[in-house]
Amino acid sequence: MTLYGVGLGPGDADLVTVRGRRVLEEADVVYSPGRLSRSVATEHVPEDRIGDVDFPMTRDEDELRRAWKEAAAEIAPRAREGTAAFVTLGDPNVYSTFGHLRRTLSAFHPEVELDVVPGVSAVTAFTTALGVEISSGSSVALHEAARGAAPTGPDRMVLFKVTDVPATHERLTDAGYDVVYGRRLYMEQGETVVTDDPEALSERDYYTLAYAEKRDVDSEPATATFEERTRERRSDGEPATTDGGPRGGAESERGRTASGRTPTRVEREELAEGEACGDEPAEVQSR
Ligand SMILES: C[S@@+](CC[C@H](N)C(=O)[O-])C[C@H]1O[C@@H](n2cnc3c(N)ncnc32)[C@H](O)[C@@H]1O
Repeated sequence: MTLYGVGLGPGDADLVTVRGRRVLEEADVVYSPGRLSRSVATEHVPEDRIGDVDFPMTRDEDELRRAWKEAAAEIAPRAREGTAAFVTLGDPNVYSTFGHLRRTLSAFHPEVELDVVPGVSAVTAFTTALGVEISSGSSVALHEAARGAAPTGPDRMVLFKVTDVPATHERLTDAGYDVVYGRRLYMEQGETVVTDDPEALSERDYYTLAYAEKRDVDSEPATATFEERTRERRSDGEPATTDGGPRGGAESERGRTASGRTPTRVEREELAEGEACGDEPAEVQSR
């Protein structure tokens, strides 16, 4: 019937989505490509429903193709006769082994239907773990940075596979970036570390990512001005009001149409939605 690619999230069993959990509970067999994904899956699936197949861990392309053909030949009949799932950490379509399986199945077993359940990816989970806000209007690039690599260019970057933190750190700081690292975020297995000290992460651990931001990057969201208020409140010990207060100056100008008339409710909603997504608010046409 169907093979589901299920994203398990970063590692904590309770970060599997409700849909992902339902698919795992209902699947006849669940294949996992690694030890970590297996340990998350078995929080939701009994061991006797975990499928047995070897997944290739090689860089040799011929060997890789041969091994994925073998894996697909094992999985395809189970997915034809019933429901099978293939789990990956994070999201199945972000730097994941699921892509190899999907391509091999559609080439050699096109009768197998595929369905993907997205997972909480480290690409987004890092923000909460590292206390980073990607505010409206900013751009972020995703790169790999294995073996000391330090890609540069965009103002904000998420770097995966940071296996030599001190080397990557030195290059990025020389290039003008501030860098924060996260290791084993939301992972029950192993110690979670969030730090900007490269020496604390000098030991290699594949489950390490970095967030790099150009030192002079300048993007102030509208509510950044409230942070001054929060700081004052903390230093005075006085409560600060948080209702936003009366809007004035440029902000109230933004709420006007090109002709100066007050926008309709629908126009106001469109402006607000555009701002919320970081879009340039479209000029409201006067009628
Ligand atoms: C092959 S990619 C898998 C990404 C995964 N499919 C996802 O969507 O998060 C593995 C890389 O993702 C990052 N990563 C994944 N999970 C992580 C976690 N829980 N904590 C820190 N980094 C993680 C690390 O940089 C690691 O080298």
